[in-house]
Amino acid sequence: MSVRQVIPFPGAPADPVSYMAGLRLSGRPALVVGGGAVATQRARALLASGAVVTVVAPRIGAELLARWAAGEIVHHARLFAPADLHGMAVVLVAIDDRVVSAAIARYARQRGTWVNVADRPELCDFYLPAIHRAGPVQVAVSADGAGPGLAARLRDEIRDALPADLPAAVENFAALRQQVRSEEPDPAIRMARLAKIARETPWSTLSAGLPPAPLPRERGRVANGREGAGDSPQAPLPRERGRVANGREGAEDHPPVLLASAGPGNPRLLTLAARDALAAADLVVADRLVPAAILALAGGRVVLADDKHDPATVPSVQSRIYTLLREAHARGERCVRLCAGDVAIFGRLHETVEALSPVPVEVIPGVSALTAPGFPLTARGVADRFTVVSARGAGGSPVSLPPHDPRQTLVIFMGAGSLPALSSALLSLCYPPGAAALVVSQATRPGESRQVATVATLGDLDAEAPAVIYVGGTAALAGEREQLGGRERQVEGG
Ligand SMILES: C[S@@+](CC[C@H](N)C(=O)[O-])C[C@H]1O[C@@H](n2cnc3c(N)ncnc32)[C@H](O)[C@@H]1O
Repeated sequence: MSVRQVIPFPGAPADPVSYMAGLRLSGRPALVVGGGAVATQRARALLASGAVVTVVAPRIGAELLARWAAGEIVHHARLFAPADLHGMAVVLVAIDDRVVSAAIARYARQRGTWVNVADRPELCDFYLPAIHRAGPVQVAVSADGAGPGLAARLRDEIRDALPADLPAAVENFAALRQQVRSEEPDPAIRMARLAKIARETPWSTLSAGLPPAPLPRERGRVANGREGAGDSPQAPLPRERGRVANGREGAEDHPPVLLASAGPGNPRLLTLAARDALAAADLVVADRLVPAAILALAGGRVVLADDKHDPATVPSVQSRIYTLLREAHARGERCVRLCAGDVAIFGRLHETVEALSPVPVEVIPGVSALTAPGFPLTARGVADRFTVVSARGAGGSPVSLPPHDPRQTLVIFMGAGSLPALSSALLSLCYPPGAAALVVSQATRPGESRQVATVATLGDLDAEAPAVIYVGGTAALAGEREQLGGRERQVEGG
């Protein structure tokens, strides 16, 4: 018989707190005494930790019965007997009988088995904290058995404050750790880099699996006396890099409104400057074309600019956007106007700068849908120029296309819904009926498609928006490659 006695040593705290630890019970036997709701909870949590669970109770509830039928637990349909403790790593008691509970706790102590008795902190060797699980992350709150309801409330409040998609963030961080491990042989520098990434990378970046902002390796001397290799200056913030487009730098003390480019849709084609701006923003007003995967990187609130190019509603939508940005800027908020593709191409850049004036703005350029498909717009001997047009005229006016030029690639934006009209317009401008046309929908996004046609057959295609249409010039080269199936994607997947 082993009787554990706690002999306080001189200087021990008069009111010691429990020692928080995580038990690794995988494959180890655990006993639950009781068959009611609390016992069921206990068994469930033990099973989640991989313990081999035995339940002793004359009767058990539906969930335990189902788990027994599925072979997940062993069940002895009788009262507890001291021999049940044999070989058990832990015993969790959840029965109403206070006298029997105390007796089980005593037996367990005598055998050196760790015991927890529900609602009887004085009988417990260990307490069960209120737990929130998110993948491999567990948040445990304990009031040392004194306030289980309070601990649960605190757990819920902490849970609500946790970053969204924590499991993905942890998983991505683990992958990052592997990468740093393979890149950096020095353990001290490696640890310092990882600690810095863990501390400074926005959660949204970690959850989305994007690379963290470039962090300088530890400067100066590190613990082992080696000079930190690869010192590089910290990348400047986007607002230090962007250009002041309206020339009114420092009009106010508040941060400038950032006119940022979101790229064609794949988050990997977002610039680092745009990504950092999003993470730091209090307000992001985004084009509806910007996908959720990019909006998820925004640190603050996101408003979708639902400008559906309806000439009747565009002016009021745009003026609401400007008002929203002006008001948020006046409050000193960090504002980002996030445009699909590159903000300088059909992104109302000039109009926005004018409308916001005298609010200072900075531009963050990006990847346009123009080049997103990754094929040439110019090629020696084929096309030495390209022209970019919109299929929609201002205020919904009719399509205005340039005349045919055999050495030019014509690129048409916003035309997915008007292919027949475009085909007719091109034919009327004497574009050869057999000239190549290529329609790229959802470029760089998971649903990307490329359809090859001619000027004459363009109207027969069914193209999903958003799409860019390439006509003549290098479209022929790109079309041939498409038909041979030899295209190279700029970025795979989504
Ligand atoms: C208002 S314009 C914005 C253009 C954007 N500033 C850019 O540089 O790509 C919207 C048009 O961009 C094109 N577009 C944007 N993203 C696209 C994508 N991922 N794939 C194909 N076309 C896209 C389509 O022609 C769409 O109708």
